Amino acid sequence: MKEIIDGVFYCGIHDKTRKIFDQLVPLPQGTTYNSYLVRGSEKSALIDTMYQKFGGEYVDMIVASGVKLDYIVSNHAEPDHSGMIPKLLELFPDAAVYCSSKCSENLQNMLHIDAARLHVVADGEDLSLGGRTLKFYLTPWVHWPDTMFTHLVEDNLLFTCDFFGAHYTKNEVFADCSSDLANSAKRYYAEIMMPFANFCAKYLAKTKELAPKMILPSHGPIYRGDDVAFIENLYSEWTSGNSSKKVILAYVSMYDNTTLMADYLENALVAKGLEVVKIDIMDIDEGEIAIELVDAAGLIFGTSMVLTGPHPKSVYLAYLANILRPKLKFTSIIGSFGWGGNLALPINSMFTLTKPRQLSSVVVKGRPRREDFEKLDALAAEIKEAVSL
Ligand code: FEO
Repeated sequence: MKEIIDGVFYCGIHDKTRKIFDQLVPLPQGTTYNSYLVRGSEKSALIDTMYQKFGGEYVDMIVASGVKLDYIVSNHAEPDHSGMIPKLLELFPDAAVYCSSKCSENLQNMLHIDAARLHVVADGEDLSLGGRTLKFYLTPWVHWPDTMFTHLVEDNLLFTCDFFGAHYTKNEVFADCSSDLANSAKRYYAEIMMPFANFCAKYLAKTKELAPKMILPSHGPIYRGDDVAFIENLYSEWTSGNSSKKVILAYVSMYDNTTLMADYLENALVAKGLEVVKIDIMDIDEGEIAIELVDAAGLIFGTSMVLTGPHPKSVYLAYLANILRPKLKFTSIIGSFGWGGNLALPINSMFTLTKPRQLSSVVVKGRPRREDFEKLDALAAEIKEAVSL
């Protein structure tokens, strides 16, 4: 447990070995589960708790501090933050959980917490700890409908749970504001926050209005002083309208015919002044594509035919791009087949939540010929125009 300011403690745990989050999000360097203890002159509160995997170590740390817990603030019911609430309620039988209405419902369903121990807060409600006040702001959809911020008013510290988080374990507590942290925070934003970009923009504005001295998320480092602007500026950039000229060309090729097409299209696009991020989707984790999706204008799928349809990894990427809801303007499909099938339909049909414009496809039987490269030139011109719209 580390004292951040007088009477406010970091009680998080670094999990450097975790490889995947929610069985979906790759974690190149693990993550942290942050929890904070706030002591007033009369009462004490924990803000968020711990993933059960580290529950023993965490509870030992809380008990060893000698604190008598009066309140547990649950900013979000996902078990990486709420997992140890039941145990803490056993150990501190007079403690109450403060949370949003949706969070209360989730805690009862997911952790079977007795409703009598839950206090549902209203937006802007205060809780006095004696000389210190916690104020709750309902901020649904960053990341679930239950999320809220907790503001420690007198010290002007803002506890944002998942919002402004990063799966970043290189700092013990405070941010280093490195390019590595920025990339990690962008990956986190892409995979967890981007589907809710409009809410993110709204709560970023709320954060700026509060002008906190520190932002204390429940994953990754704490931002303090001038470093607050580091994460705020990144969120400003990511949630703004998309004016990028970047095109992602994500391809998979069985016998290099699709590779030939992807290489040709890349050169044609670069010659037109566009930025191209070409990715062999067999080589990387999906998080790297998610990062690029944050500020890409378009996504071009390159795929070989596998039996009668695109490579399954291409279809999965399309599904992922759909649920992450990037601000893509357009998609297109290029690729090669041997004897038949449909490359475009299975990919295009994945886009149900977002509706990027579907540009022409260039699908070639076997190895591309001169007329196929001419079609790629035409597609490059179409992409150039679509980027500019
Ligand atoms: Fe870190 Fe949505 O939980």
